[in-house]
Amino acid sequence: MTSERPLLAPSILAADFTKLGEDIRQAVAGGANWIHCDIMDGHFVPNISYGPDMVKAVRRAEPDAFLDVHLMIEEPDRYIDAFVEAGADLISVHVETCPHLHRTLQTIRSAGCKCGAVINPATPVEMLRPVAADIDLALIMSVNPGFGGQHFIPTTYNKVHQLRAMRQEEDASFLIEIDGGVGPDNIRTLTEAGVDILVAGSSVFRAENIEERVQELIRLANLGRRNFV
Ligand code: DX5
Ligand code: ZN
Repeated sequence: MTSERPLLAPSILAADFTKLGEDIRQAVAGGANWIHCDIMDGHFVPNISYGPDMVKAVRRAEPDAFLDVHLMIEEPDRYIDAFVEAGADLISVHVETCPHLHRTLQTIRSAGCKCGAVINPATPVEMLRPVAADIDLALIMSVNPGFGGQHFIPTTYNKVHQLRAMRQEEDASFLIEIDGGVGPDNIRTLTEAGVDILVAGSSVFRAENIEERVQELIRLANLGRRNFV
């Protein structure tokens, strides 16, 4: 899987659930390529969000969108089928929750989905090396998972550089995704650093005009992409 240009993945965690379909439509109208769904279980992370039914609703609202499902849950293997059936296109699991990460990734793939591996801010990039060739996406958390609206952790940039080096060394082709604290102030430097997919929750859905904010974020991301070498 390769990306020709930066992709924005608005996280519906920050959307207004009373008008979710409309919020998502505005994000897609602005040019968002992916929709990011954050699944939290109150165990692995200290917050509870929503489950497969919500993913199903997003799929109904946008039949053609690419649904990027981020599992922040313990024992993710138990729920893979439910999220695939709900309409996920890609499922990411945290390495911190998967003692048998390789097997979990295989399970996702054999269920007909693309797969990703996620690392928390305090988890080293090296944890991804053994599965580098097996994943479609590597997600670096740029906040501690559990809540939207937190501040971006700047050491994320080092991790992006390390991950790009690893991708080359391992002859892998995964996309690099960043999640947390992404907005107009840093999206350009992130694509300059080589990030492929940018998750943005509050900066998209808490904006006065969702469609315009998405357009602005994509414009800035593309500027960074141009300087990316
Ligand atoms: C955090 C989630 C993020 C979150 C991002 O645990 O994984 O996807 O929704 O929200 P913002 O963009 O507000 O930091
Ligand atoms: Zn997320």
